[in-house]
Amino acid sequence: MVIGQDDDRVRAQYEAYPYPERDPADEAKRLIVGSPSHLLEINHYVFGGRLDVSRPLRALIAGGGTGDATIMLAQQLAWRGSPAEIVYLDVSGASLEVARARAAARNLANVRFLRGSLFDLPGLGLGRFDYIDCCGVLHCLPDPPAGLGALAAALAEGGGVGIMLYGKLGRTGVYHMQAMLRLIAGDDDDRTRLGLARRLYDDLPATSWLKRNPYVSDHLEGGDAGLYDIFLHRRDRAYTVPEIAAMVAGAGLEITGFIAPALYDPASYLADPEIKERALALPWIERCAFAELLSGALKSHVFYAVKSGGRKAAVAGPDNQDAVPVLLDTDGRAAARGLRKGGRIKAEIEGVELSYEVPRLSAEILARIDGRRSLGQIHELLARAHKGRAHKGALDWLVFKAAFDRLYAALNGINVMLIAYPPR
Ligand SMILES: C[S@@+](CC[C@H](N)C(=O)[O-])C[C@H]1O[C@@H](n2cnc3c(N)ncnc32)[C@H](O)[C@@H]1O
Repeated sequence: MVIGQDDDRVRAQYEAYPYPERDPADEAKRLIVGSPSHLLEINHYVFGGRLDVSRPLRALIAGGGTGDATIMLAQQLAWRGSPAEIVYLDVSGASLEVARARAAARNLANVRFLRGSLFDLPGLGLGRFDYIDCCGVLHCLPDPPAGLGALAAALAEGGGVGIMLYGKLGRTGVYHMQAMLRLIAGDDDDRTRLGLARRLYDDLPATSWLKRNPYVSDHLEGGDAGLYDIFLHRRDRAYTVPEIAAMVAGAGLEITGFIAPALYDPASYLADPEIKERALALPWIERCAFAELLSGALKSHVFYAVKSGGRKAAVAGPDNQDAVPVLLDTDGRAAARGLRKGGRIKAEIEGVELSYEVPRLSAEILARIDGRRSLGQIHELLARAHKGRAHKGALDWLVFKAAFDRLYAALNGINVMLIAYPPR
């Protein structure tokens, strides 16, 4: 591995501007949750819904930054009383200290903090991991495929990764800003560069690509660290879906799902029936690539991957009566109340507006989802309720399942509903 000036500068950036900006005192007020690495997503997209948290899971957060994924996963596992161990790894000591303080603020004892590079994994003697998070890190490495290869080599049998890489099309305008700032302020000190980045942004003509891409607004809220990361980074690159698929395959891995699935589904954007039919006839990864080209708004790609050949077993689905529908940080009863008013579910993700017509039974189903009940149990409860109402008649399993499947397609698409199974 060639360590050049850019590597030193990237490290220096994260020492001076730990990313994202976080205040450990805020842990008393809220838990930041997101993708990748929400425990319910890991279960759904890596372990086929059958993750047994009563067993000692080993997770690595590679390039953990100021701790968002580390804190979320450690807290979710601690709440479930899991004996899991999380290893946080980052080259930036300043970032590590923020992450450590956040864990301390929550009294989390299940995280081991290590300073180092993910390229050093073979020599660190950490053993293998059931799950590895690498969010926003690979794309700023000198050799991203080698970085992913290092992570793949550290995976235990049956394990998987959760990754975020920047999206090339959705970040249109960002790299124009980076290039202009390199031209006028490449070697200036950080304060000067930050000041110039702000002023250049304010001075952009309406025709500039960044002004024409209103979906990029991250820098408006992330403070100096956010501004530096988006416009002044010394080395970051962005990916298209086919480029990701090729890199993942090169590491001996296979993508199990993109988050949120609806963003990668051409049907979410199209009305023309013939174009829709042709797009939906494509193999899955080409459908995702088509959706990315169509949308233009995918600024980042969050995905899970497992060892090649493992996709089918890794992804959970509502296959039978034992499937347990789980809602991601959503209250089923509240969602049901909202739905009673009308049979449409609407969402806005990354600027993309999505709308689904869902079956009549949806509100009744949602009200009975509590993260523990299986589909069989939910059906039984509903069937009993319907029996008491003479005009409704018996609720057959197949009728129930057809309604559930349509509701699931909508809610899984917007990453609100996932599936779990009782551990074997
Ligand atoms: C954009 S930040 C992302 C932080 C965190 N993963 C998140 O999503 O909030 C990138 C992080 O990767 C770290 N990093 C860069 N190169 C690394 C390497 N070779 N090994 C481990 N961490 C690295 C940086 O120090 C920085 O904290």
